[in-house]
Amino acid sequence: METVELEIDGRKVRVAPATTVLDAAKEAGISIPTLCHAEGLEPFGACRMCTVEVESGGRTKYVVSCLYPVEQGLVVRTRSEKVDKIRKLVLEYLLARAPYSRVLRDLAAEYGADPNRFEREGSFCILCGLCVRYCAEVKGKCVVGFVENGPRREIAFDPYMAARECESCKGCFPLCPTSFAQAAYFLALAREHESASSRDVSASEVA
Ligand code: SF4
Ligand code: FES
Repeated sequence: METVELEIDGRKVRVAPATTVLDAAKEAGISIPTLCHAEGLEPFGACRMCTVEVESGGRTKYVVSCLYPVEQGLVVRTRSEKVDKIRKLVLEYLLARAPYSRVLRDLAAEYGADPNRFEREGSFCILCGLCVRYCAEVKGKCVVGFVENGPRREIAFDPYMAARECESCKGCFPLCPTSFAQAAYFLALAREHESASSRDVSASEVA
């Protein structure tokens, strides 16, 4: 089988072509932090937490390892001063959205990120898209999706579908790094119960 040889943190690694740097590192037992990646889901490249330093043809650049494919002779550094600085900044930005996330706080402690660097944004969703992709790709449903744009962008469950589809699933909950998926689901359920009650009242008025 054709393979590609690269170096990750000084270690020679051989993997199949088209493997991502993140997966190549994983195969070599080297861990890279991720926030929007999960096995079995399409890579999304949203959080930038998996940024690494790569050197190829004498040029150094910073790439998201969950999307970047391996190349013959590529040199990868999963930690460096600049990589750590990028991850620290990513965490500070995300903590402004989800200051109570345990996952973010643990990573912040590791990278020395200041949870109060940026003004809080009042959203608990870091837009990793894990819940959305799980629902679409694994369950073949679209109960949860992105809504709004710009700074107001977040996810929401369709109340009608959530009340009918999620009780036996809830598979996106453990994937969510901030617990916002659970909160959004219960909000959707409350909305659906409210609509169902007003539908019942209207029906009884007609009868
Ligand atoms: S609700 Fe959670 S899993 Fe879904 S996009 Fe937001 S942070 Fe990610
Ligand atoms: S894990 Fe690679 S960008 Fe989020």
